Amino acid sequence: MTDNIVLVGFMGAGKSSVGRILARRLGRCLIETDDMITAKEGRSIPEIFAAEGETYFRAAEEEAVGLLGLKRGEVIATGGGLPCRDGRPETLRALGTVIWLSGDLDTLIERALRGGDRPMLAGRGREEVRALYRGREPFYRQADLTVDTTDLSPDQVAGHIISALSAGRRAGSAVPME
Ligand code: S3P
Repeated sequence: MTDNIVLVGFMGAGKSSVGRILARRLGRCLIETDDMITAKEGRSIPEIFAAEGETYFRAAEEEAVGLLGLKRGEVIATGGGLPCRDGRPETLRALGTVIWLSGDLDTLIERALRGGDRPMLAGRGREEVRALYRGREPFYRQADLTVDTTDLSPDQVAGHIISALSAGRRAGSAVPME
């Protein structure tokens, strides 16, 4: 299998945790676009946002997307804003099977706030975060598969993904929950 598995979704969806488990269980490497950027920049995501701003970070994401074209058969975890540009969902789908880790927005926000420094949440009230999410959802929706992570552990999410992939589920379908 040469296709990549590409995880997309809002902050707090569990892309990194699920990606790690998937990579281990499938014997693949995990590539995180945020890690590609921090490795190249030699500084953290919050440092990049603070020093250069969001536009600079999005350009770094663009460059990372270009490099992803070289990857085969990996698990790729994207940053929460990466799929949300015109033409980007198509670019990601050309890399492999795109999986949207969706979920109840309040749950995602709680997880994201627990899980470290996220510049896109800093200084934004709940309503602003909701608006950010609403603007992004149409991009996430273009994934091949969707898993609602609200009541699932990362391990369970990975399990659902593996079953769906081995059942050869069609583009656009949601993975049924038990
Ligand atoms: C961002 C999400 C972050 C990271 C950066 C911007 C966003 O990744 O790429 O802080 O715009 O939603 P996670 O989704 O892994 O938190």
